[in-house]
Amino acid sequence: MAENTPINSPDSSQTTFWVKRWQTGKLPWDLGGIPADLVSHLTRTRSSPTKVLIPGCGTGYEVRAFHEAGHDVTAIDFSGPAVTHAREILGPLGDKVIQGNFFKHDFAQQRYGLIYERGFLCSLPPERWPAYAARMADLLVPGGRLVGLFLYGNEPEPPPFPLNEATANALFGGSLRLVTDATVVAQSVPVYQGMEHWQEWERLG
Ligand SMILES: C[S@@+](CC[C@H](N)C(=O)[O-])C[C@H]1O[C@@H](n2cnc3c(N)ncnc32)[C@H](O)[C@@H]1O
Repeated sequence: MAENTPINSPDSSQTTFWVKRWQTGKLPWDLGGIPADLVSHLTRTRSSPTKVLIPGCGTGYEVRAFHEAGHDVTAIDFSGPAVTHAREILGPLGDKVIQGNFFKHDFAQQRYGLIYERGFLCSLPPERWPAYAARMADLLVPGGRLVGLFLYGNEPEPPPFPLNEATANALFGGSLRLVTDATVVAQSVPVYQGMEHWQEWERLG
């Protein structure tokens, strides 16, 4: 990030864009809890604990849900106020939240069986999407899954930046295959209403 990026930067790839929202409490994406679709997923997969990564975690409510389901979970966000808030909410699990840039953080040899998506891909300008797809493919073990809530549709004033089917296939098609796609009918926050799909993309071997 450029040192002199203005605080009111309209570029949502920049830390300042998000820090400003966290500092002013403008968090229209924040569900205040765990999405029902994730609860269902965790119930279905209870017997298969794995390493989980939550990029762009925000408040990170899901950290507790994955942890309590037996998974070894790590979350990352590059906004200082988001990380502070997440650590307050998570209490003893707060040390599972890293402050860092998902695209630059050194994950060393660590690879994940599951990466959880909610509100992160759609927060990025589309020119960042190829880097997102490449990073996911790199950080997942073969057979591992990118799982969560993806936005599809049209948004006249992004962010959020929704996908469409062709874009998603072009982005992920080379390294991931779509194994689950279900429209979410309840519990979306207003800014995501009618656009959320629960999807599971599996890393090709
Ligand atoms: C729309 S919010 C979604 C937060 C959370 N996933 C949720 O569902 O409530 C997007 C979050 O991604 C974070 N973020 C954006 N780009 C990032 C990056 N490159 N690395 C780490 N975090 C990032 C922002 O700081 C912000 O907290």
